[in-house]
Amino acid sequence: MNTPIKLKPGDARYPGISVQDLLDRDSRVVPNYLREQSYSFLGDEDIPYSRYTSPEFHDLEVKHLWPRTWQWACREEHIPEPGDYHVYDIGPYSVIVTRTESGAIQAYRNSCMHRGTKLKPSFSSGHGMSLRCPYHGWDWRLDGTLKSFPCEWDFPHVNPDDVGLSRVRAECWGGFVFINLDVNAKPLQEWLEPLPAHVQSKTFENRYISHHVQKELNCNWKIASEAFLEAYHVMETHAQLMRTNGDANTQYDIYGDYVSRLINVAGIPSAYCMEPQSEQDILDLFLVGDRSQVSERLTVPKGGTARAVMAQFFRDSTAKAGSDLGAVSDSEIVDSIAYFVFPNQQFFVGLTFPIVYRFRPLGLHHNRTLFDLILLAPRPKDGTVVEPAEPVWLKAEESYSTVPGMDPYVGHVFDQDTGNMQAAQEGAQTALKGGATLANYQEIRIRHFHQTLMTTIREGQEKEGS
Ligand code: FES
Ligand SMILES: [Fe+2]
Repeated sequence: MNTPIKLKPGDARYPGISVQDLLDRDSRVVPNYLREQSYSFLGDEDIPYSRYTSPEFHDLEVKHLWPRTWQWACREEHIPEPGDYHVYDIGPYSVIVTRTESGAIQAYRNSCMHRGTKLKPSFSSGHGMSLRCPYHGWDWRLDGTLKSFPCEWDFPHVNPDDVGLSRVRAECWGGFVFINLDVNAKPLQEWLEPLPAHVQSKTFENRYISHHVQKELNCNWKIASEAFLEAYHVMETHAQLMRTNGDANTQYDIYGDYVSRLINVAGIPSAYCMEPQSEQDILDLFLVGDRSQVSERLTVPKGGTARAVMAQFFRDSTAKAGSDLGAVSDSEIVDSIAYFVFPNQQFFVGLTFPIVYRFRPLGLHHNRTLFDLILLAPRPKDGTVVEPAEPVWLKAEESYSTVPGMDPYVGHVFDQDTGNMQAAQEGAQTALKGGATLANYQEIRIRHFHQTLMTTIREGQEKEGS
């Protein structure tokens, strides 16, 4: 009798078809970045619930996490002209991102150098050729230098050169403006590695925000973020997706300290879908929501796959709009390929589902979150400028399907995701068990995130103590 091979923790995988098997069958050459796998076992101890439920832990994040990490604050097209500004808020911190007269993007703490008043309201945006405090009228040029202040005779002790606005780091990638309150932070490009090596910046630069939803959630921001780091929940939370989406065979990769990735395949049934599905069944089910507008009935040729037909359909439709996707792999068209960037953001690089997430504590609450969901669309080829969509704000109980222009089918999926979050928060609060037990493989991105979270907080505490 054969003795079963004993696997080391983390080595077990779903025994059926893998993402890499599917990539072998792609109708195009699949780029190398999708061919690599980058997993390591990081331990299997529980993640303490107190990280989600304790106001003290929230305070540690306010002190040591948010002021030391890169976060996307807005898109470059939010501030196209000199004098345009956009305010980004995270916990107690508020940052003004502006475009100076030279066209450069700069960011400042949203705080007056006189008595600290916020120069611009939170969550606001607008235009002005100086940044003027609404209280006593101190006024700064867009480059942050002090331009004027009333009753200068009464401030003989103030050297105007010493009261420039407090600079915040601002760097761009993919048309996103990222900020970091830590002026000594490592450059954004290093932080994002390997994302810029995998995906060209112009992939995102060539898009604009077609929809923007900001949803309040009654949970800690990490509970919200972590719901999108794994596909393990698909079979229970999104049972309707099981006939057209992989789940247990999703590939998870972790890179360095800050980035992780998920490749979730579409056009095959779930590993745990019991009903037999033909390729034609899968294709028919895939054409739901906005996709049901397709006039001709697509058919899978003998020996073909739903994935290949879907990908070709997308190539053909975009060709009509002037884009050539002839060499782009099926996977990059139909699959969900999502990069998480520490601490609170995810970028989907596939072509049919180009979305971006960001999660922030709402106000100063440890159990309230603001979830930004943006959908990106290709910029018109003729160079017509399209303004980014204004955010639609949803209360916790409101449905994504109420958002004008949003595909109700997609909206329903987000309702299912966000529908779990308050229960996850409240359950963590009432638990006798001390923490969350994670799957070794499918939830590795959550563990990887927590490892960097704790390192970041520890480093902050050490700096404070030194
Ligand atoms: S507080 Fe800003 S000018 Fe006085
Ligand atoms: Fe989900």
